[in-house]
Amino acid sequence: MARGIGFCHVIASIVVSVAACAPPRGTPPPTVVAANAPLVTWPTPSCQERAANLVAEMTLAEKVAAMTLPDTAQISRADITALAIGAVLTGAESLPADPTPARWLDTSNRVHDAAMRSGLRVPLVFGTDAIHGHNNVRDAVIFPHAVGLGCTGDPNLVEQVAGATAEAMFATGVDWTFAPMVAVARDERWGRTYEAFGEDPRLVGELTAASIRGLQGSPPGTGAHPVLACAKHFLADGGTVNGEDRGNAEPSERELRAVHLAPYAAAVEAQVGSVMVAVHRVNGRLMHQNKALLTDVLKGELRFGGFVVSNWAAIDELPGDDADRIASAIDAGIDMVMAPSSYQDFIATLRGLVPERIPEARIDDAVSRILAVKCELGMFTASARSRPPPSVVSSLRHRALAREAVARSAVLLKNDGVLPLPKTGHVLVAGRNADDLGHQCGGWTLGLVGGNGPLTAGTTIRQAIEQMVGRRRARFSLDGRGAGPGVTSVVVIGETPYAEAGGYIKQLELDADDVTAVRNAKKGGGKVVVVLVTGRPLPLDLVIDLADAILVVWLPGTEGGGVADVLFGDVPPTGRLSHTWPRTSGQIPINVGDTPYDPLFPFGFGLTYEVSAAKYEETDASGAGRLAVPARKMEDGSRGQTRPFGG
Ligand code: BGC
Repeated sequence: MARGIGFCHVIASIVVSVAACAPPRGTPPPTVVAANAPLVTWPTPSCQERAANLVAEMTLAEKVAAMTLPDTAQISRADITALAIGAVLTGAESLPADPTPARWLDTSNRVHDAAMRSGLRVPLVFGTDAIHGHNNVRDAVIFPHAVGLGCTGDPNLVEQVAGATAEAMFATGVDWTFAPMVAVARDERWGRTYEAFGEDPRLVGELTAASIRGLQGSPPGTGAHPVLACAKHFLADGGTVNGEDRGNAEPSERELRAVHLAPYAAAVEAQVGSVMVAVHRVNGRLMHQNKALLTDVLKGELRFGGFVVSNWAAIDELPGDDADRIASAIDAGIDMVMAPSSYQDFIATLRGLVPERIPEARIDDAVSRILAVKCELGMFTASARSRPPPSVVSSLRHRALAREAVARSAVLLKNDGVLPLPKTGHVLVAGRNADDLGHQCGGWTLGLVGGNGPLTAGTTIRQAIEQMVGRRRARFSLDGRGAGPGVTSVVVIGETPYAEAGGYIKQLELDADDVTAVRNAKKGGGKVVVVLVTGRPLPLDLVIDLADAILVVWLPGTEGGGVADVLFGDVPPTGRLSHTWPRTSGQIPINVGDTPYDPLFPFGFGLTYEVSAAKYEETDASGAGRLAVPARKMEDGSRGQTRPFGG
């Protein structure tokens, strides 16, 4: 079957070829970089000139304010105007009490107006973490987290998902998202594994580039709803020892480049406008002070022409006093500083450091980069694009696309012939993730950690199954008891929401209640289908023999219908693992290309079955566009046959 990406290929765009699925060892570092530097100058000379002319007219105070990124919950409109602030963000923990689309648009109008009242009259950029759809907006469609999209291996789908996210952002006046995450997640104990496309640099690079095209347009600023993307977190955030969130990555030079830097080359080639710095150390060196990687490699070798932004209050955590911290970070190559609340201190301190500790030329370079990106995004020209209504965030069109993405993310790990389920049978729907929209969405949903229950509008897996077979045929039992012989149980288990350091778990294992629910279902005497809602592979030893089928649906978001589509054979399972699935937690880290390599399921694994009818005839209310998942026949034509990598 044709796929967007062969999972175990050669990184062709890198002149020194590197087998993506075999992280190389013991040979000299490849010269990834010069070869990958973009051929086209970006930002374009005309935007660079525009930026340079503006910088020439700015005072030092205005330049420093242009480099400052406070949080909307902390800065007043009066300060935005008085200081001529260049950018603001609404952090995941700074949401208004009722973050409706209209409320977001209102905030956007206020902050943009405030910036245009300043003496400088340069538009600001308004950012947030729209990382799986516009996830901080009430009732917005939540798309699968990146770990699931990685299993589709399909750049076209990822570009469409990013395009829908951009449309939702555009509709609510948000200009900038801190996405995509470019991490190559090599240790699943890391609590941000689900934000990454997978463990393989080529897969991550291809999907990163697709996401950037979908968000910014290609070239950037073109397209229906261009917004600014941010590749994060530079560099090797997915490579820390033991997967520790703020730990230390200790890759060899060769691994650093071939595994972690290669996807950034793809991001730069896709003309990403901004890059966010990681909060950990690389070989003992804090990334926010790492001039060699930020300036020499990213801006020099890769020829990244956009701007580098620091992480949330990360400058405050550097060693030394305020002056030392800021001087070292700006010298290292950071162009914009995320100072959510301490923006006034930052501005005052940075001003005082020029020119004695920071030459004004470094400040001019930083501001020019920021302004050139604003120019490329069309912020200096009156937009001819009409803003879609804020309600587009929950349109049927977006829901249909998300449902397709859910179905295509699902990876079938085991099937003793029970799937697809007939729509005419009785089903016991069980488990604590069966009827919980918050659990389905995972972290970074209406807040940093997400939550439980009906956080927003959407369809749970239980509801989707009920819609599929009719309510009379689907009974719910949280703990899996109550299935009789002849009744198939669908037991939905896995993880509950977490984010960042809170998701770091030394020993990954299934929850005891989840195992009990599967055991109870098995005791009922019917077939048992385990559906895993999870942000990463979990050891399956306690349930694998009890289950007749196992389907991993990752963190699917609001559209539980996509899960039912696969379970009941409206859509064939076509997802393939973007992570090696370990036998036990103790086997982690284990990644494709390792020797020895004896996982439970290898990278790229995924079973399938044949389906007969096409699905998704839904049309948006306006009648525009139909998103179809063609019900493709598998080439092998068989039920439950393993398809090899790249097949
Ligand atoms: C996270 C980033 C995020 C930023 C802004 C940081 O704490 O590490 O991923 O983009 O906050 O919310």
